[in-house]
Amino acid sequence: MAPPPGVRPVLRYSRDVTSPGDARIRVPPRLEDDDCIGDVVVAAADLQQRIAELGAAITADYEGRPPLLVGVLKGAFMFMSDLSRAIALPSEVDFMAVSSYGSATRTSGVVRIVKDLDVDLVDRHVLVVEDIVDSGLTLSYLQRYLLARQPASLEVCALLVKEGQQRTAVDLRYVGFTIPADFVIGYGLDVAERYRNLPAIHAYLGDKPA
Ligand code: IMP
Ligand code: MG
Repeated sequence: MAPPPGVRPVLRYSRDVTSPGDARIRVPPRLEDDDCIGDVVVAAADLQQRIAELGAAITADYEGRPPLLVGVLKGAFMFMSDLSRAIALPSEVDFMAVSSYGSATRTSGVVRIVKDLDVDLVDRHVLVVEDIVDSGLTLSYLQRYLLARQPASLEVCALLVKEGQQRTAVDLRYVGFTIPADFVIGYGLDVAERYRNLPAIHAYLGDKPA
């Protein structure tokens, strides 16, 4: 789209533009030109179908005890948005942001709380909404952290679980899909902050940032 008269575009997209988040990643002008985006692992329609089922199950289970949905930023933002609309109960949402120490693609299990909750958890029915469980270490830390706040109940709804990767026992009440252990992107999941806006879950074919 042409800028209004008198306004000069600051940036023209080209194959040479680099991501502000990671200068090593080349950014093609359109997603369909990006060779790092691999095959679809979970299609957009299948995500929506499964989220409708999860929402129905949660609606049945939490009738009479409204849930407080706790989304784990940033990865869960899209799942949280769709899941919350699939739950036909009075409910509230809150968010936490965590960052795990370790490499970008391997968590160490030591978690730093970057943004804490705004809502008091005492006597609340807390449902943690997670994007993906890999080693399970992040979630296991979060469960201990949230239980210390004395909720009436604490359960987890994870969209994706990587098969055979868990290094700790995590109690997952609701699971969307079990997927192979390969790195995935899209529907909230990123590499160096990119690809979160893909509507489906895809395999990631690029070099993983260290
Ligand atoms: P865990 O502590 O090993 O279970 O890792 C959990 C976190 O690592 C998730 O909440 C994601 O933020 C991130 N993660 C793990 N696997 C993937 C992936 O395949 N794509 C994008 N992020 C991932
Ligand atoms: Mg996450």
